[in-house]
Amino acid sequence: MQKAFFSKTAQLLPPTVLTIFGATGDLSASYLIPALLHMQEHKLLPESFKLVCVGRRELNSKSFLSFILDKSASLRKVSSKTRSEFLKKLVYFQGDFDRPESFGALAKLLSDHDQAEHECYNRLFYFATKPQQFSSLAQILKDQGLLVSCTAHKRQARVLVEKPFGFNLKSAQSLNKLLLKYFKEDQIYRIDHYAGKETVQNLMVVRFANSLFEPLWNNKYIDHVEISVLEKGGVEDRTAYYNETGAIKDFLQNHILQMLALIAMDEPYNLTAEMIRDEKLRVLKALDTFDAEKIKNQLVKGQYKSYEKEVGGKTTTETYFALKTFVNLPRWAGVPFYLRSGKKLSKKTTEISVHFKEPVRCLFKGCDSNVLTFKIQPDESVYLQINNKIPGFGIELYQANLEFGYKSVFKGEIPSAYERLLLDFMEGDQRLFIRSDEIEASWKFVDSITESSQFTKAPTYVYEQGTNGPKEAEAWIAKDLKNWWTK
Ligand code: BG6
Repeated sequence: MQKAFFSKTAQLLPPTVLTIFGATGDLSASYLIPALLHMQEHKLLPESFKLVCVGRRELNSKSFLSFILDKSASLRKVSSKTRSEFLKKLVYFQGDFDRPESFGALAKLLSDHDQAEHECYNRLFYFATKPQQFSSLAQILKDQGLLVSCTAHKRQARVLVEKPFGFNLKSAQSLNKLLLKYFKEDQIYRIDHYAGKETVQNLMVVRFANSLFEPLWNNKYIDHVEISVLEKGGVEDRTAYYNETGAIKDFLQNHILQMLALIAMDEPYNLTAEMIRDEKLRVLKALDTFDAEKIKNQLVKGQYKSYEKEVGGKTTTETYFALKTFVNLPRWAGVPFYLRSGKKLSKKTTEISVHFKEPVRCLFKGCDSNVLTFKIQPDESVYLQINNKIPGFGIELYQANLEFGYKSVFKGEIPSAYERLLLDFMEGDQRLFIRSDEIEASWKFVDSITESSQFTKAPTYVYEQGTNGPKEAEAWIAKDLKNWWTK
């Protein structure tokens, strides 16, 4: 078996101090601190590393860590050795964005730390707060002289910005403008955690490292592409955010369009962040925007039954959508992309399937199309469906899969998306982060749906929890395809 993971030379990373704003929030408890603890356990953190967690609550470093450990069941397994080593690197800082003057002490803490260590630490800031606070945060960093790492080295600080990155094109543009007032593009790391998933990173490798696929990767051979992101869970305690957002803005604008871009892009000239992002941008700009007619015919939205009860009132916010779009590039002319996502469905799965056309002339009865499926999660794998002969005296066909399952090939855990992205952030590698123009192109497409009056008028069909979504969506897809593809 191939030993897989944790080959990064993290300990060669420069001395780093990572400051997380919004450290007592859900994101931090569910993803960031667990990722950092796991990195501690696997010796992936830089040798000289300090973590400053900023929150409003009155806590100290020890009680902060206990607070996080209590919130996250998965962290109960973390050994006491790891916890105590981690605690040595952790400082909790109580700060209130409404009182910017309270952050003078943060600046002092960071510079005292550098002086005590006789080192100029790389300063990284993670904005895990509400987006409405980004502006005050950037101003605080500027006013406190924290935009450079230290006066001696003048290394630029970096900032990682959590989603949601705006709620439409206009707000995303303002946010970009605001950040670019304080930072240069190469200091800004806009995160989409799907980009950090191992299986999403594999998309470019499968496409461009195998001579098998690229010659067929066009409208002559591909019939259609499907991307499904299905979730079993509901909106839980995020009702306020979600009800303003809905499934299309929550999932299509970022995760699904990012995966679509990786499936549809041309091979970049090289693997630099700029080249990769240029190619993704070309796809995002070429998405076939919606008009009223397309909203009627190419989109279905739904809402799970108990949603209004959870939100506490009447609402048309969609917790499910299914749509068909096209990429207006010669390679993809006429190839539909079917995209769907929803909450409280029968299973949790993220899959991308590329459906090839059937042979122009099939000598045998029962030929079916080849389908290349990327199972992004869970049970990470890649399948290729091919036609085979059933053993026996006749010629009957059977569709079987060539299959590569991560768990059967690689031993070891797959690092979480956040671990990968945090390491890249520390290393200063922007390849898996989203550039301002990509975000804006995605919003332009999403706005053509969600900002249209036809979208508000379109029905939101109610569906039972634990099903495949609204019946109307099944009827809609049946007009084009036999049914949705899932493994
Ligand atoms: C987030 C969405 O970006 O991704 C959530 O806001 C969603 O609504 C989550 O549940 C899913 O992430 P994952 O990694 O569990 O598939």
